[in-house]
Amino acid sequence: MVQDNQQQGSMSNEELILTNRQGHPVSDNQNTRTVGERGPTVLENYNFLEKITHFDRERIPERVVHARGAGAHGYFEAYGTIGDEPASKYTRAKLFQEKGKITPTFVRFSTVTHGGNSPETLRDPRGFATKFYTEDGNWDLVGNNLKIFFIRDLIKFPDLIHAFKPDPITNRQDPNRIFDFLSLTPESMHMITWLFSPWGIPQNYRFMEGSGVNTYKMVNADGVGTLVKYFWVPKQGVKFLTQAQAEEIQAKNFNHATEDLHEAIERGEYPEWKFCVQIMSDDEHPELDFDPLDPTKIWPVEQFPLLPIGRMVLDKNPTNYFAEVEQAAFGTGVLVDGLEFSDDKLLQGRTFSYSDTQRYRVGTNYLQLPINQPKTPVATNQRDGQMAYAVDGAAAGENPHVNYEPSSMKGLKEAPKNNVPHTPYVEGKVMRQKISRTNDYQQAGERYRTFNDFERDDLILNLVTQLKKCNPDIQERMIGHLTQCDRDYGARVQAGLQQN
Ligand code: HEM
Repeated sequence: MVQDNQQQGSMSNEELILTNRQGHPVSDNQNTRTVGERGPTVLENYNFLEKITHFDRERIPERVVHARGAGAHGYFEAYGTIGDEPASKYTRAKLFQEKGKITPTFVRFSTVTHGGNSPETLRDPRGFATKFYTEDGNWDLVGNNLKIFFIRDLIKFPDLIHAFKPDPITNRQDPNRIFDFLSLTPESMHMITWLFSPWGIPQNYRFMEGSGVNTYKMVNADGVGTLVKYFWVPKQGVKFLTQAQAEEIQAKNFNHATEDLHEAIERGEYPEWKFCVQIMSDDEHPELDFDPLDPTKIWPVEQFPLLPIGRMVLDKNPTNYFAEVEQAAFGTGVLVDGLEFSDDKLLQGRTFSYSDTQRYRVGTNYLQLPINQPKTPVATNQRDGQMAYAVDGAAAGENPHVNYEPSSMKGLKEAPKNNVPHTPYVEGKVMRQKISRTNDYQQAGERYRTFNDFERDDLILNLVTQLKKCNPDIQERMIGHLTQCDRDYGARVQAGLQQN
């Protein structure tokens, strides 16, 4: 569809004839059909009905989170290596094997909490979602700019988001609700230490990092899995805004990040990120004071260095925001051979949630849209549903009478089992239980001490400003948690709250 529009754009003026969606020429787009020139209007008015009823349906539900976003097309170039070793040692995923191999990509950056046209200057994690159109089908890496997350159990996600979204009565975001939830969620202390520091407002999308946050696995040709975390490191550098700088921009421009990305690409200043991984053998690592599957923890770089694996350049703006950015659908379940899940509970919750919401938000056939379709042939026996656009098996030469498998009448056949499967062994009692190595405060304290003075001052100022609007018991709980992260951290927030 996008392509058709582009073709129309190159037509000569005589050919630029307005039609309706039935292909009928529209010779009067100024006057509705009426009885006499003063009306009333008549109902047998197909062009008007088609135009207005389509307009009435122009909006689809916005994303329940990450509603505000900007996107761009680009490419990923593999180094063929992971650090100094051949990529094949850890993964058989084809996109990483050869030096210089190019895979097309589409990226959507976003803010999390507020609606589709909310200011891009707000303190909020930023989404960094990448679709790799690989020769084995699509791989989506749905990440954020900060390297960790607020919670580690999937069941808490709707509560976390409700606390950050506007109050259901006043329709305003309320720090009292946010810190009520966070002060009862100690595992969030690490994330809020990042979020309320200047790192919580990236200058714009080009100057921010990306991270897969969750632990995944890479699997090699022998079926051996390795735990992995993914990172995007911006070649442009990392830049962020203080609260005061953000407010100054927001007073004049609430689209600054979208504008910056679009204009940089138009100018030919293509943003670039190095793609890196951290790797760890696939076991529980009892020697560590954190659980490698816990998304509230960073794997220390001194022990688990960032190993470069490729680079990504964004070099093309979307030609239609709605078709490409709004309808783009990313999910953590979208993996290719050689890349797998880990047992990270949060990751499994995400994997259900993304495609579920997309079937509601975009529609049953969301994977037939050009932005979501793989660039490799698709051949399924899935049929029909709202807005079905094509028959998946037709291009593969499937007998059109056969939409089931197995069949002896030229139906689709299962793919050969060429690859050694990765077969992790799992056993245990079915239970509801927190992980035992929670260690909620240590990395938050380390982060606090690693910040330079300016970052620490900004963190304290931002936390105190928000906590001043909270109930005394919430303030007390927060001071208690922050003191356990670092005595000075807690003491400074307490002192700030005592000042008028
Ligand atoms: C249990 C935890 C989580 C759940 C249930 C969840 C669920 C969702 C849902 C329902 C959406 C909307 C998707 C759409 O409408 O297309 C979404 C978007 C998104 N989420 Fe999560 N999420 C979780 C945690 C995370 C984490 C840890 C990250 C970062 C690593 C993350 C990054 C994103 C991004 C980047 C988007 C926007 C994707 C886009 O641009 O279309 N989410 N999430």
